[in-house]
Amino acid sequence: MNENNDNEILNVDNVSFSYFKGLKKLEVLKNVSFRLKKGEMVALVGPSGSGKSTLLNLIGLLEELKTGKIFLNNKLINPTAIDDRNNIRLNEIGFVFQFHRLLHEFTAIENVAIPQMLTGLNKELSMKRADELLKMMDLNNRMNNKPGQLSGGEQQRVAIARSLSNAPRLLLADEPTGNLDPKTAMEVINHLRLIVNETKLTCLIVTHNIEIASLMDRVLKLQFGTIVE
Ligand SMILES: Nc1ncnc2c1ncn2[C@@H]1O[C@H](COP(=O)(O)OP(=O)(O)O)[C@@H](O)[C@H]1O
Ligand SMILES: [Mg+2]
Repeated sequence: MNENNDNEILNVDNVSFSYFKGLKKLEVLKNVSFRLKKGEMVALVGPSGSGKSTLLNLIGLLEELKTGKIFLNNKLINPTAIDDRNNIRLNEIGFVFQFHRLLHEFTAIENVAIPQMLTGLNKELSMKRADELLKMMDLNNRMNNKPGQLSGGEQQRVAIARSLSNAPRLLLADEPTGNLDPKTAMEVINHLRLIVNETKLTCLIVTHNIEIASLMDRVLKLQFGTIVE
């Protein structure tokens, strides 16, 4: 059951997940349950291989759930129909990965505009919003550069701007600063914090960086397949 709760954005309810290799079963998540409130910035920590990416992929609808339920804004999103899934992924959930996954042949501003055009928004409005988002990330002078011409921190800031381009309700970030030096990592997180505060976005961030985790509103720890808060 999922009682209606206006303040809640995410409800992960009794989620278990296993990978199968032939007959071998690898139990990764065991009865994971937690909730996120609107506007929260929460760290997800845990040893390597503990299932952090698997959990994010289930919430981000990159993986189909067989046991348990995930609700976004009180609506069941996983498991759900493929068409719905694509729609939710494009409009309601933003994803940032450790490696930026920007499109190399396009400029920063085009990278941020493209997901908006995929929803049917025209180019002019998409570019206008992309311009605003990149300015929020302090990238005024880098908008017309391609990813290969940007530093690692700048690339991640573009990736964050892109993830926010369709104004998602929830941002999932899987070790977004894992590839950056500590100072640059902190700059990226500080930019993210500003945007979160401004837009009331909810953010779940996987990180190994203790300093970053300590800056979050809350820390969820994944250990032996379950959440220990
Ligand atoms: N596609 C897959 N097929 C089989 N096993 C996988 C797959 N993806 C991850 N795993 C395994 O599941 C476990 C959890 O992986 P992952 O979620 O990536 O952990 P983390 O992100 O915490 O490092 C690991 O043992 C990993 O080897
Ligand atoms: Mg991982």
